[in-house]
Amino acid sequence: MIVLGLESSCDETGVALYDTERGLIAQQLHSQIDLHAAYGGVVPELASRDHVRRMPALIRQTLAEAGLGVSALDAVAYTAGPGLAGALLIAAGTGEALAATLGIPALPIHHLEGHLLSPLLAADAPDFPFVALLVSGGHTQLMRVDGVGRYTLLGESVDDAAGEAFDKTAKLMGLAYPGGPVLARLADQGMPGRVKLPRPMLHSGDLNFSFSGLKTAVMTQLRDGAVAPADMAAEFQAAVVEVLVAKSLAALKQTGLSRLVVAGGVGANQALRAGLNAATARRGLRVYYPEPALCTDNGAMIAFAGALRLAEGQRGVETHAVAVRPRWPLDSLGAPE
Ligand code: KG4
Ligand code: ZN
Repeated sequence: MIVLGLESSCDETGVALYDTERGLIAQQLHSQIDLHAAYGGVVPELASRDHVRRMPALIRQTLAEAGLGVSALDAVAYTAGPGLAGALLIAAGTGEALAATLGIPALPIHHLEGHLLSPLLAADAPDFPFVALLVSGGHTQLMRVDGVGRYTLLGESVDDAAGEAFDKTAKLMGLAYPGGPVLARLADQGMPGRVKLPRPMLHSGDLNFSFSGLKTAVMTQLRDGAVAPADMAAEFQAAVVEVLVAKSLAALKQTGLSRLVVAGGVGANQALRAGLNAATARRGLRVYYPEPALCTDNGAMIAFAGALRLAEGQRGVETHAVAVRPRWPLDSLGAPE
């Protein structure tokens, strides 16, 4: 079976083809970074307009890359939420229209399910069950994963997501958009510990996070003293990493599981990977990551999630109604039926 995956929930237009026999066979991605850079953040209306412009050509290029025509498609999977409402409508509208025209099923996919299943696309894929650490721009969650759609929320951020904290802190430090990777690069030139930032909720006794206080602490310290930006960035990154590592270990301990899967944009952070690798190796635990190119938003993870759901017997939606869910709790999904 060949599944076309469409992603347009935020500032990336992603299209991919997943073949249940051959794996990922083609993918195209357009990033809107340049478009939003002048505004220092994603402008939803501009994002939607750009997705509309890019999506048809990306679909044509992806099919051409695989040497296939639309008649080869067995299903269309698209991100139906969570995300920006107007942006989500592009993949949803395109996906439903294509599926209706071709007489094939359409599969609305949860964006975070795409992220958390993406490490299964790697050569060395984890088996179920595992604990997933979802660290994106919009979410920071620890999830117990027993199978496709079988997700139990263990803990989450009570305020800013980890990626959001990176982005907001970068912005107030005057760094270029997108802040996360830029702040991470600056951190590599500094020394953590020269300034001291809190480790929010490190000892809260639960698996929840809070990151919004960190940016306030950065702001106060920048105002009060002469701190080298690289040292501030390094301490900020160290604080986020320390909390993410400690809570991930606590989640493994609480569930008795030995496999940790990291997904979402912040999963690309090298300090986080080093911290998780060291902490898990010491305890005989294992940590899995998506391929670097699949850490941030892409169509491949959506095509793959759709293919897994189809393989487990989920029937596509036949009504071809275009409905998206800008807010959508991941643990409300349920297994395919
Ligand atoms: O998963 P993603 O591409 O989009 C969402 O679904 O949110 O994640 C994007 C987030 C942004 O906040 C970005 O700043 C952050 O991931 N990010 C990073 C790094 N690369 C991306 N944060 C820290 N270090 C990085 N290397
Ligand atoms: Zn994402």
